[in-house]
Amino acid sequence: MNYLTVGNELEGASQLVLGCMRLAEHSPEEIISVLETAGEIGINFFDHSDVYAGGQSEAKFAQALQLAKIPRDRFLIQSKCGLRDVHSNYHFDFSKDYIISSVEASLKRLQTDYLDVLLLHRPDALVEPEEVAEAFSRLHQAGKVRYFGVSNQNPYQIELLQKSLEQPLIINQLQFGPAHTPMIDAGLNSNMLNQLAVNRDGGVLEYCRLQGITIQPWSPFQVDLQQGLFMKHPKYAQLTAVLEKFAAAYQLSFEAMVLAWILRHPAHMQPIVGSMNPDRLRSMAAAFDAELSRADWYEIYKSAGNPLP
Ligand SMILES: NC(=O)c1ccc[n+]([C@@H]2O[C@H](COP(=O)([O-])OP(=O)(O)OC[C@H]3O[C@@H](n4cnc5c(N)ncnc54)[C@H](OP(=O)(O)O)[C@@H]3O)[C@@H](O)[C@H]2O)c1
Repeated sequence: MNYLTVGNELEGASQLVLGCMRLAEHSPEEIISVLETAGEIGINFFDHSDVYAGGQSEAKFAQALQLAKIPRDRFLIQSKCGLRDVHSNYHFDFSKDYIISSVEASLKRLQTDYLDVLLLHRPDALVEPEEVAEAFSRLHQAGKVRYFGVSNQNPYQIELLQKSLEQPLIINQLQFGPAHTPMIDAGLNSNMLNQLAVNRDGGVLEYCRLQGITIQPWSPFQVDLQQGLFMKHPKYAQLTAVLEKFAAAYQLSFEAMVLAWILRHPAHMQPIVGSMNPDRLRSMAAAFDAELSRADWYEIYKSAGNPLP
């Protein structure tokens, strides 16, 4: 396992994060086994949200830590807020009161006094940066949140927030994986008239690198949250075949090969994997041992249907 100083601030974070969005689907024994496996391979960073399984992911994670007698300070815990009424009138809320009440509820479910990191989950069109700043300062001063970041935000959204905040935004959590590469496509196709040249996210990859903001790629194995695993999707048959070829050549599992492709990018990204299968998780640890050549990295990229200009 590699360890990072996330956003040039948060030291000693494992470069692989375990995402807990799917954790509540499992029994307490299975959750303990996943947490112990994560510990074995050196993962010390866990990603939550107040909305995962309606808060049950946070609650069951805390129960498993207690049952397994794993001390809180062995882990870095990140959670998110800002999504509301997911199953009724879904919308976003970055108001001061909502941020504070959401964190209080997460802390209760997680049975902890503090979050290591709080992220704003998705942009709120009605954001008032001064209110976010008040909420963050209150939480920080009370010792309830150590560090702050965002998710799914573009550079100007981050700049707008940062202008009012006292604390630096150290993380931007974005979907990224071999089957989801808009942040790379636009840069590679700069000055072209094709679809891949469309700059949807305002150069978010280059911006985060410039600012020292750590990118946390979410769902690295999914096409998206609706279409599921890219390995099972006909559109990505060629990508899957090429990854299988390189997995054999580099003597890695398929999953480790996918992660090795992400980790080869020099932005020092911190991928979030959501596997709750101890064997699959264990096999991912070898991703750090492979150093992909440029030619192999580009072959994988092109096999996802991304021609180079
Ligand atoms: N910020 C955001 O907007 C956002 C959005 C979505 C997710 N996230 C974060 O990102 C984390 C990871 O997301 P994710 O769970 O979608 O990530 P993922 O790692 O892409 O997917 C994990 C899922 O894929 C399955 N899987 C992986 N390899 C497989 C294989 N070879 N064969 C069959 N199944 C396989 C896993 O099953 P097993 O358990 O059986 O291995 C698990 O159900 C989440 O937990 C959450 O923390 C953030």
